[in-house]
Amino acid sequence: MQSGFAQELHGKTALVTGGTRGIGFAIARAFLERGARVAITGRKEDGVRAAVASLRDAGPDRVLGVAAHSARPEDVARAFGEAQAAFGTVQVVVNNAATNPTMVPLAEVEPEVFDKILETNLKGYWLVAREAARRLREAGVPGSIVNVSSVAAFRAWPGLGAYGVSKAAVNMLTQVLAAELGRHSIRVNGIAPGVVRTRFSEALWKAPGAEEKAAARSSLGRIGEPEDIAGAAVFLASDASRHVTGQTIIVDGGTTTG
Ligand SMILES: NC(=O)c1ccc[n+]([C@@H]2O[C@H](COP(=O)([O-])OP(=O)(O)OC[C@H]3O[C@@H](n4cnc5c(N)ncnc54)[C@H](OP(=O)(O)O)[C@@H]3O)[C@@H](O)[C@H]2O)c1
Repeated sequence: MQSGFAQELHGKTALVTGGTRGIGFAIARAFLERGARVAITGRKEDGVRAAVASLRDAGPDRVLGVAAHSARPEDVARAFGEAQAAFGTVQVVVNNAATNPTMVPLAEVEPEVFDKILETNLKGYWLVAREAARRLREAGVPGSIVNVSSVAAFRAWPGLGAYGVSKAAVNMLTQVLAAELGRHSIRVNGIAPGVVRTRFSEALWKAPGAEEKAAARSSLGRIGEPEDIAGAAVFLASDASRHVTGQTIIVDGGTTTG
């Protein structure tokens, strides 16, 4: 029997939240390079504009940017609406926009900071997945939702407590959505990166000696680059993963197993 699939995304429309830089940007570029039409979001209008301009070489007529906050239902609906109007029903969604504004012990996190983390990292992911699922079911087309989690969901990282709690919840969001949406041919999976060189994680690699320390914890001897995460996203978005759902793939260079 022939496999009948390719890791190609020709003809698919994807929406990547937080696609203006870092991991989301690398995923958006990888999707464009494989033929998808891609909408990216970010809160800041200028960031969206700049990212779209630098993605154009990968797919001049296939990229769109929408300034939208993932945790605001009206922004989420607008982002999907604009993507759908430009490129058709969004079949691939990458929930990637997340935040971690603090690095203090969990017992010292202020309530409003805790709320902010859970609002973006968990409620935002749920709102985006909910909008995607509604539109996919209405259109009667199959889909793939990919939730970017973190290794902090699996093991306690002192100083990243509220963030780790939010990502552990994202893993269960992935499992429940997969169980409920499978019958509608909507797959839901996650990717859990280790330390990746982005603005978000600067505290973990930028200070003198920090990168070497983080790299030493990994079997592959280096921290991740945003492009290292994009391959798993392409796999989960494509038909190559057509029988995979409810899983969270750890992409950390072997940090959690080394
Ligand atoms: N970097 C790592 O080491 C690492 C490790 C494990 C997991 N992760 C996960 O990987 C994902 C991406 O992280 P990153 O390192 O690439 O971060 P990043 O470089 O800081 O990029 C974050 C992106 O999200 C957008 N964003 C933030 N809050 C948003 C909101 N409420 N609504 C819409 N967009 C929002 C940002 O644009 P605006 O600022 O314009 O909104 C930006 O495009 C996150 O889920 C993170 O938890 C990262």
